Amino acid sequence: MPVSMEELVRLCKARGFVYPSAEIYGGFRSTYDYGPLGVLMARNVKDAWWRSMVQLRREVVGLDAAVLSSPRIWEASGHLKNFTDPLVDCLSCKQRWRADELPLAPKRPAPGAPEPAEEMVPTCPNCRGQDFTDARPFNLMFKTFVGPLEDEGAVAYLRPETAQGHFVNFANVLQSEHLVPPFGTAQIGKSFRNEITPGNFVFRTREFEQMELEYYVPPADASRWFDYWCSERFDWYVRYGIPREMLRLRHHAEEELSHYSAATVDVEFAFPWGWGELEGIANRTDYDLKAHAAASGQVLEYFDSATGQRYVPYVIEPAAGVARAMMAFLIAGYTTDEVAGEQRTSLRLHPRIAPYQVAVLPLSKKENLSSFALEVLAVLQPVVMCDYDDTRSIGRRYRRQDEIGTPLCVTVDFDSLEDKAVTIRDRDSTQQERVPVDRLVEAVTSRLAW
Ligand code: GAP
Repeated sequence: MPVSMEELVRLCKARGFVYPSAEIYGGFRSTYDYGPLGVLMARNVKDAWWRSMVQLRREVVGLDAAVLSSPRIWEASGHLKNFTDPLVDCLSCKQRWRADELPLAPKRPAPGAPEPAEEMVPTCPNCRGQDFTDARPFNLMFKTFVGPLEDEGAVAYLRPETAQGHFVNFANVLQSEHLVPPFGTAQIGKSFRNEITPGNFVFRTREFEQMELEYYVPPADASRWFDYWCSERFDWYVRYGIPREMLRLRHHAEEELSHYSAATVDVEFAFPWGWGELEGIANRTDYDLKAHAAASGQVLEYFDSATGQRYVPYVIEPAAGVARAMMAFLIAGYTTDEVAGEQRTSLRLHPRIAPYQVAVLPLSKKENLSSFALEVLAVLQPVVMCDYDDTRSIGRRYRRQDEIGTPLCVTVDFDSLEDKAVTIRDRDSTQQERVPVDRLVEAVTSRLAW
């Protein structure tokens, strides 16, 4: 049965994935904190992305640009002018909404008027009102001041995307790395947007982490690389456990395109409330490099020494969100089944994504068993992330590990002291196998099928 949002939010809090931020003060406007399991899982999502985008490629290098930087970046990139959402106020309850995201409902007839045709009109989600102010552009960038003076000269912005940090370092990277298009820079980091309507748990928040690749290609090859990255990114989510039927690629209509984009495709996931964007793949053309070259006076081109030609590369950009990917993996992995006549909940997470790969569970807390179990833990810890739990009954400990997605449990019992062997239990099949401790690392890594 698919997991509901209520159940997902409950599980995330109860098991230490995601907590509402500042909860002891009543919370703070759709912000969230990541708990012990949430940080492990988010780290694994980022590592899986980095592995496929950087580690397994020759032509992609890493980058980590500043969150706070020159406001001239945002002027040149067009964000100061164009990075806006249409804001409206409901004339009845005064709540503010994004005009393009208001739900539609049948238009209510004016009092005494004859029944109108079935016309659907934007409707306030709070009071059901249907009268709004005209839409006005609301810039999503958070403004702040750098240094002790709060005047115009000190204004800076928290970055709303990591992408511009790539573009302003284009010449630096080319100079230090001697790369030839197609090549890319990859970056993972926080971005900030003053969203008008954050919501759906961590799907839309004002502070979030992005994983962005800027892939520089010869202009003539841009559409081929755009197609390549659409299928490559779709397959990444499948590789890490999302069924194909829960994913789709959606092409943006002309009027939906960002100011810099010639074409955009979203990788969408079937969230409990409907299809939602996990990641956008955009053909940003030469828009950004040309804009920064014009504003800074610097040369942002590639010189092809073989042909003697200079050109401004086009940029293909797969841009993903860490929290949205995490949510999708949690929702797709959520499973309920029956084991030995009992209902159980498990998270069938890919071993690279699961917070812990292995839980070491001594059958009792007795001194001699604990010390052997800790030796087993010490064998596994350098290789995989391990949990260690010696509380409650073994059945309840298995249930807990299933519910947090741990693929393997290693149980240490009193026979282990004699035969120097332990039992490996598989999360999904619940099958168990006895393995000598001196072959444990090999047995665990082969079962995790990295
Ligand atoms: N550089 C291009 C760019 O930023 P985007 O589609 O606005 O494109 C890329 O953002 C990804 O960042 C989205 O697909 C989503 O996963 C994530 N993202 C964007 N806004 C977000 C928000 N308010 N909360 C959580 N994730 C967000």
